[in-house]
Amino acid sequence: MSKLSGKVVVITGASSGIGKALLEASLKRGARVAVCARNTSGIMAEFQGNENVFCYQADVTKESDCRNFIDAVMGKWGGIDVLINNAGISMRALFAQTDISVIKELMDVNFWGTVYCTRFAINSIISRRGVVAGVSSIAGYRGLPCRTGYSASKFAMQGFLESLRTELLHTGAHVMWVSPGFTASNIRNVARAADGGIQGETPLDEKKLMTAAQCATIILDGVESRKRSIVMTAQGKLTVWMNKLFPALADKLVFNHFKNEPDSPLK
Ligand SMILES: NC(=O)c1ccc[n+]([C@@H]2O[C@H](COP(=O)([O-])OP(=O)(O)OC[C@H]3O[C@@H](n4cnc5c(N)ncnc54)[C@H](OP(=O)(O)O)[C@@H]3O)[C@@H](O)[C@H]2O)c1
Repeated sequence: MSKLSGKVVVITGASSGIGKALLEASLKRGARVAVCARNTSGIMAEFQGNENVFCYQADVTKESDCRNFIDAVMGKWGGIDVLINNAGISMRALFAQTDISVIKELMDVNFWGTVYCTRFAINSIISRRGVVAGVSSIAGYRGLPCRTGYSASKFAMQGFLESLRTELLHTGAHVMWVSPGFTASNIRNVARAADGGIQGETPLDEKKLMTAAQCATIILDGVESRKRSIVMTAQGKLTVWMNKLFPALADKLVFNHFKNEPDSPLK
């Protein structure tokens, strides 16, 4: 039996991609699953009548939405065992051309959304000796060109979670983050361009990437076994390792990788 059976799992950003796959995989493991997103009509329709799914419309950039979401979960199921901070957006633009509002929006969703939900859920998670997880990225270990706001937000998320893990060391609660590699989802389609508009296309062949379902399995296995952090792909592991040992070489390799993407702003 899964360790998540009967537990209350909260997932932010579950209307598509990895979050939606986490919802489906958590249900299969017997959890009661509370999810939020700004666009909830699809999930509401798909899981209507499923008493193990609680869906709430919330924008994680708004502190009050996060508070109301977590309070609603507490009211419905009495506590939280696992919080997965997954809601996130990306960007693709040269910093010199990027409107400052883009960087702020990335921080608001990826970092502040994590801080708000974690803050409102933390006392329940401590009392249940539960888990706080963050869906980070290789960009949280290695600054990526044209993703200044994205990397900044994921570095901030990891620093926040590492501090919290250390603070909670003797409480029985656990804190972790996971760093997927490129995973098929909507993230590149809705990545912000320099003016804050949506990129509207992906530079990658999404069919060749890890699926969101595979990614969700790795994340939930990691939550169940209380991993400290997970770097999911060989490319990701190599990047993190290379960056530690040969940072100047990593600059060059990372630059060339992103320069070779279709329509790269680095060209
Ligand atoms: N896919 C990858 O290659 C990849 C790689 C590394 C890390 N990640 C991370 O994985 C996480 C999930 O991304 P994904 O790839 O699954 O992308 P996705 O398909 O675009 O899903 C992102 C989810 O976040 C939600 N979201 C965005 N802004 C929000 C807001 N302000 N309030 C509430 N929810 C919000 C979206 O819902 P609404 O738009 O309905 O609000 C959606 O459900 C992100 O943190 C991302 O950084 C992804």
